[in-house]
Amino acid sequence: MTRIGIIIGSTRPGRNGEAVAKWVHEIASQRSDVEFELVDLLDYKLPHLDEAMPPSLGQYSQPHTREWAAKIASFDGFVMVTPEYNHSTSGVLKNAIDYLYAEWNNKAIGFVSYGSVGGTRAVEHLRLVAGELQMADVRSQVALSLFTDFENFSVFRPSDLHLDGLNTMLDQVMSWSNALASLR
Ligand SMILES: Cc1cc2nc3c(=O)[nH]c(=O)nc-3n(C[C@H](O)[C@H](O)[C@H](O)COP(=O)(O)O)c2cc1C
Repeated sequence: MTRIGIIIGSTRPGRNGEAVAKWVHEIASQRSDVEFELVDLLDYKLPHLDEAMPPSLGQYSQPHTREWAAKIASFDGFVMVTPEYNHSTSGVLKNAIDYLYAEWNNKAIGFVSYGSVGGTRAVEHLRLVAGELQMADVRSQVALSLFTDFENFSVFRPSDLHLDGLNTMLDQVMSWSNALASLR
């Protein structure tokens, strides 16, 4: 069965990312023939990148790298749920991405972002990163506003209009994950 990982890109105490990712997971899990799993970076104690060899060589020396690599390798595609920090994604998500290489290759990726202008600048940066990792980034994305999709900037209340966008993005991630299966 196709497996899609939904990665929570924030580890901050009081983070909004967890509620957003759980919403994505709840909607996504209504689909059949595909398995969605939440991947919480808090569960993977990845320090600042501490591997001597470039990840593209796949020579992982640290137990935390091997555990992270095994988890990411188990998926056919991804949804990244990213905050916007200083017009980019979070440092913790970028660090987690940088740990690996082959485990990301030839897989589809879709984005759900949030911030004062929907986190769109974070996603633009992530699309550049996805290109280097040989990932197929789908066009549709969900951009949630801190002003209209959260109460007091902290209680997640997504407006219904995002459902269509989310489902379109999930459709695209599914199609491209399946289409790329022969390359993996
Ligand atoms: C270090 C930092 C930088 C931020 N920079 C931006 C920014 O450039 N643009 C923006 O729209 N929001 C920015 N914000 C607001 C965050 O998008 C908002 O707090 C969001 O909830 C953070 O995600 P999290 O709660 O899951 O950690 C920033 C927040 C932090 C903590």
